[in-house]
Amino acid sequence: MSTSRSTGHPGRPRGSMTTAVLYAPRVHYYEHGRIGDFVVRSPLVLGHESSGQIVEVGKGVSLARVGERVAIEPGEACGRCDQCRTGRYNLCPNIRFHGTPPVDGTLSEFVAVKSELAYSVPDEISDNAAALLEPLSVGIWANRKACSQVGTSLLIAGAGPIGLVTTMVARAAGATRIAVSDVNRNRLSAALACGATEIALAGSDNVAGGFDAFIDCSGSSAAIDAGVRSVRPAGSVVLVGMGADELRLPLGVIQQRELLITGTFRYANTWPIAIALAASGRVSLDDLVTGEYGLADVEQALTAGRDPHSVKAVVRPALSDTRSAKGEKKSELQAKKSELQAAG
Ligand SMILES: NC(=O)c1ccc[n+]([C@@H]2O[C@H](COP(=O)([O-])OP(=O)(O)OC[C@H]3O[C@@H](n4cnc5c(N)ncnc54)[C@H](O)[C@@H]3O)[C@@H](O)[C@H]2O)c1
Ligand SMILES: [Zn+2]
Repeated sequence: MSTSRSTGHPGRPRGSMTTAVLYAPRVHYYEHGRIGDFVVRSPLVLGHESSGQIVEVGKGVSLARVGERVAIEPGEACGRCDQCRTGRYNLCPNIRFHGTPPVDGTLSEFVAVKSELAYSVPDEISDNAAALLEPLSVGIWANRKACSQVGTSLLIAGAGPIGLVTTMVARAAGATRIAVSDVNRNRLSAALACGATEIALAGSDNVAGGFDAFIDCSGSSAAIDAGVRSVRPAGSVVLVGMGADELRLPLGVIQQRELLITGTFRYANTWPIAIALAASGRVSLDDLVTGEYGLADVEQALTAGRDPHSVKAVVRPALSDTRSAKGEKKSELQAKKSELQAAG
């Protein structure tokens, strides 16, 4: 296999970023400087939901990848520990994750990533949607833990980006009852568009129980308490949302119904499924984008979530680039590819 001028990182293509999406926890780092045990101790580049185009490849990576549009999986696991070797690489204690201290994130013009973590995306998937394959992965993982399948009934608390992608995946999996609750009416409307079959204003609307599973995407103790009580015997509770460090749970309900409770930590092996779901139109990620910003306006993008109508703010470094014409970028890449191929 031919190799090219090295990026300085063996096996890593260098990608020019087209999109990086802001996700609530990154905003949390921005506003509070920590998320649980992950504390920002020195300047940190944020961002871990991203897509781009490969501009350079490292040693051992095919030159044919230059110019490829890619979605980036942000966690680099060690591949050697027990968790990695048993396929649960999301639980790798050595994982390095973009935008989680001390690893810089992807809110920049260029980033170097391991070749296997840059997934080629087809034309059916836009740059924004390619970046949103990351939260979609969280939704895929949550539905897998909830055993969603044809005919499943689910309650999902929280209709933020994660609750919305979880709703989309539940619909794609064939769930026939998908109830979504939130305290924000705008987000409940978005949930209907994403496949909710019923919506409820948390705390005021009553939802009939008996769900096969409850997925919390809110982190709210009140939502989790109500959700646990709404699950049928031998059903599942999946805790995705991150709220208070400690939680009161209705032990009697959990015991008498023999509920299965699990947390989730990111995802593993979800990108190929996420790509297939998005490319086939079974999920519609572009609908989640409520604002686009250039790299110079990251601060505005970071605070966009304070607006109750906002769902996902996207940063497109190219927006601050005067050469914004897509064609110009493409021919530039083509020229670079030919130059590298000639160099052999
Ligand atoms: N476990 C993981 O790997 C993982 C991965 C990504 C995100 N998360 C977590 O998932 C959660 C959702 O992420 P997001 O980006 O959608 O965040 P978000 O803050 O945009 O969405 C949370 C939603 O919950 C709603 N909410 C608040 N109180 C509620 C209540 N009592 N009942 C119902 N809804 C309520 C809010 O109005 C909001 O719409 C966050 O806590 C985030 O940290 C976990
Ligand atoms: Zn590992």
